[in-house]
Amino acid sequence: MVDSTMDSTWYKDAVFYELYVRAFKDSSGDGNGDLRGVLSRLDYLQQLGVDCIWLLPVNPSPLRDDGYDVADYLNIHSDFGTLEDFKALVGGVHQRGMRIIVDVVVNHTSDQHPWFIESRSSKTAAKRDWYVWSDTDQRYADTRVIFKDTEQSNWTRDPVTGEYYWHRFYTEQPDLNYDNPDVQQAILDIMDYWLGMGIDGFRVDAVPYLFERENTTCENLPETHQYVRRLRKHFDTQWPGRIMLAEANQWPQDVREYFGDNDEFHMAFHFPIMPRLFMALKQRTRKSIVDILNRTPAIPPSAQWCIFLRNHDELTLEMVTEDERQYMWEQYAPDDRMRLNLGIRRRLAPLLDNDQRRVRLLNALLFSLPGSPIIYYGDEIGMGDNVQLPDRNGVRTPMQWDSSKNAGFSDVDAPYVPVIDDADFGYRRVNVSGQQADPGSLWYVMRHMLTVRKQYRAFGRGAFEFALPDNEAILGYWRVYTGDSVPATGANTERFLVLVNLTDEPQRSEIDLSEFAGRTPTDVLTPDQSWPEITEASYVFELAPYAYHWLRI
Ligand code: GLC
Repeated sequence: MVDSTMDSTWYKDAVFYELYVRAFKDSSGDGNGDLRGVLSRLDYLQQLGVDCIWLLPVNPSPLRDDGYDVADYLNIHSDFGTLEDFKALVGGVHQRGMRIIVDVVVNHTSDQHPWFIESRSSKTAAKRDWYVWSDTDQRYADTRVIFKDTEQSNWTRDPVTGEYYWHRFYTEQPDLNYDNPDVQQAILDIMDYWLGMGIDGFRVDAVPYLFERENTTCENLPETHQYVRRLRKHFDTQWPGRIMLAEANQWPQDVREYFGDNDEFHMAFHFPIMPRLFMALKQRTRKSIVDILNRTPAIPPSAQWCIFLRNHDELTLEMVTEDERQYMWEQYAPDDRMRLNLGIRRRLAPLLDNDQRRVRLLNALLFSLPGSPIIYYGDEIGMGDNVQLPDRNGVRTPMQWDSSKNAGFSDVDAPYVPVIDDADFGYRRVNVSGQQADPGSLWYVMRHMLTVRKQYRAFGRGAFEFALPDNEAILGYWRVYTGDSVPATGANTERFLVLVNLTDEPQRSEIDLSEFAGRTPTDVLTPDQSWPEITEASYVFELAPYAYHWLRI
């Protein structure tokens, strides 16, 4: 059983798995994945080496934004099951020594939520002030529109009273008014409710946008940080060991603020590194990765970045320059249908032309760069996408379990969306059971990387420093853990030199390792491969195309 209080910084060593319940496994036979379906596949996640699953929203919702438009925070969407099913899932997860966090949508509700229905009913309604109303649509004019392909403005005029309401996302997602203390309390109560059911924390959705102030971008305002500090204090006193993970798609220096002084979020996504991993491959140089990590400030000792290659949204290009965005679109989204808002709606394997060398290489980075990694469901087997489906649904298709009807996801004739059935990524070709029968498959490579990663603390907790051989096609970095930050582990210093060839040609370089003269590096991923002994002389090495090595020194 998991005891969250035993090691309150468990998240620093954890491997996360982002799971879209609707897509995972249909146990009820209605064509939608559900909580019992997830429960039935927990052994699979455990085998893979997952430590913590993150569930996309599971609350009742009209699904304008796939559940990120909540109509009732205290229940489960009928497609997914019941509160009893949810508790059973939490129990099943903990029984296996894993953990579970869920999305909490704090910035906005659905327009079908009773709070909004009441709020919009009249200017004097008791809950009028729970949302942001205005008699003009000219306020907060410096605020960008996020869903720019669909929304013209952050204001929508409501015919009932003739006033406008504020929304950072779809029109159907009115923003809550955080200047109202009742709203602040209501969200805290919702968190208590789910924590009381035993979950290990939240992925907190759309954090930067809680407050609005004139003449600002209405993002990352001091008031937001103040509210987050209130939440954290509550966690520290009432729910030690439970975590909050911030979704703040912002530049590193702005996200840094969300860790506060160990008194805001436990974790936050590092958004800007992600597109740069893809960029580095196309540009055949480490430059963009080095730039962004050099621009990433240090974080408090118990804080942790969360890194990812893909997720349920478009591959966001918000945190790049205009030129870089054009470049990424040209290189990775040649077909217009692949583009959405400021991003690319494709999955990992298709983005990389299904080149297993590149897929493995990016995963080797994901599992060794600073932060805790998150795997997006299906990427462990290299699933494809479907650009015919609207919005972000093309990367949310059913999990491909086997080669039977609907990939073993559901028995119905028409699941919520069709399973992928194309030549390269179709379920007969790409599925879990096929890969589990093939020791050379991506699934085994992923499982192996996770197993190896977990034998050390350096990857989750170690210091990070670039080792930059003169050849820019090679990315090199140190991960060093001395045991300082976690006493009494008895661990010796763990010192890794990660070396990666970002190109499809062999690359040579050398590096000064003289301080380790006499030692012989071992690649912990492939220990039977031999590496020359280190001497006083410069250490010369050659890397095969797209090779990656985690060298223990
Ligand atoms: C977050 C979610 C995204 C959703 C949006 C609005 O960015 O990841 O899926 O549409 O918030 O809730």
